[in-house]
Amino acid sequence: MERNVIRSGSKLAPSSFSAAPHALSLKGIVKRYGDLAAVDGVSLDIPRGSFLTLLGPSGSGKTTILMSIAGFVRPTEGDILLDGARINDLPPEKRNFGMVFQGYALFPHMTVAENVWFPLRVRGQSFPESERAVMDVLQLVQLDHLKDRLPSELSGGQQQRVALARALVFKPDLLLLDEPLSALDKKLRADLQWELKDLHEKLGTTFIYVTHDQEEALSMSDEIVILRDGKIEQMGKPGDLYEKPATSFVADFLGKSNFIRARLIASTGPDQATYAVGEQEFNLRPAPATVGPGETVAIALRPEKIDISVTEPETTNRLKATIRQFNYHGTSFHLRVSAAPLGDLFVTVQAWRCGITPSINGELWISWEPEAGVVVRETVAIDDRPSPDGV
Ligand SMILES: Nc1ncnc2c1ncn2[C@@H]1O[C@H](COP(=O)(O)OP(=O)(O)O)[C@@H](O)[C@H]1O
Ligand SMILES: [Mg+2]
Repeated sequence: MERNVIRSGSKLAPSSFSAAPHALSLKGIVKRYGDLAAVDGVSLDIPRGSFLTLLGPSGSGKTTILMSIAGFVRPTEGDILLDGARINDLPPEKRNFGMVFQGYALFPHMTVAENVWFPLRVRGQSFPESERAVMDVLQLVQLDHLKDRLPSELSGGQQQRVALARALVFKPDLLLLDEPLSALDKKLRADLQWELKDLHEKLGTTFIYVTHDQEEALSMSDEIVILRDGKIEQMGKPGDLYEKPATSFVADFLGKSNFIRARLIASTGPDQATYAVGEQEFNLRPAPATVGPGETVAIALRPEKIDISVTEPETTNRLKATIRQFNYHGTSFHLRVSAAPLGDLFVTVQAWRCGITPSINGELWISWEPEAGVVVRETVAIDDRPSPDGV
């Protein structure tokens, strides 16, 4: 199955992937409300059977994109293609897409089975005729034993499973999910994340998932599209986005990051470069392709990629640091240290291998591999960011 390819505006895409048509393609989608472009030129191809997540802060256009796909919002510009055919003018009920929202929107006077039957009923199927399909999908979401209950007699997680069953019972071509777990508490949300992923594996249906929760996006998706102000900031596989954020926005939104503003002083081949902050020099690998010596760069450095030690480490990228603040998180310590000339840095260390007992004003060494730093485009000013929370 072609799972790992999405192309944005690529001229190569149609010919090279004609053998595996995309379940859905968006071509230059724009949605304007007066002067505001809620969606501002979004193009992407979603391979059949993939789990694609639209991730972005509130107001970045996620719901508007999903509603355009569903047919409830009419794009101002652009085309939506299903299996290569334009569906802009197809009404929502003809698109055969399942939808699940944050609010369960179950019919309160109908039992679980009747709720799940509903989409088949509007398609003209009687209950005896649809009973098998209803029971099958209830079994899939592990609710067959509760089929005669009313929604009010179910927990939040169970209600959301009913909504899921109702969206799947007519075997939709696509399942669209808009923040379906955000009303649930943390533990239940984690359980349902596993279940949703499992369901996706079993069914092979294309899932398009909307969330503002980066951990949810990282743990569930084949592909993540990061949106900002109605535009795609970056897209790719979770691991690639996390390890190689292209911009300061992505580095900050997907996980936590320290940022270092430095001067590139030399590229010692494609493999390695040297950068300086004040008089202090550090190594970076690989050398950035787009900036040359003398230029200022923004470097993202993940808190968990910084090591701590009591004795001075034998590496170029090391500084003496003082602990300003620390939090214990069970599995890890989160430290805020100050280390001239870089200023404050956040460091995450696994508690069991921390090696020291953190104390305020305690001194230690910090160090990081040349590969740990990633040069990013500064789409959000790195000085204006709020500090990472959780410290
Ligand atoms: N019907 C509408 N009328 C006017 N503005 C809208 C409408 N729907 C959404 N918007 C605006 O479009 C932007 C994107 O909204 P939305 O797609 O709901 O974002 P998200 O789902 O990422 O939070 C927001 O600024 C929102 O206020
Ligand atoms: Mg939304």
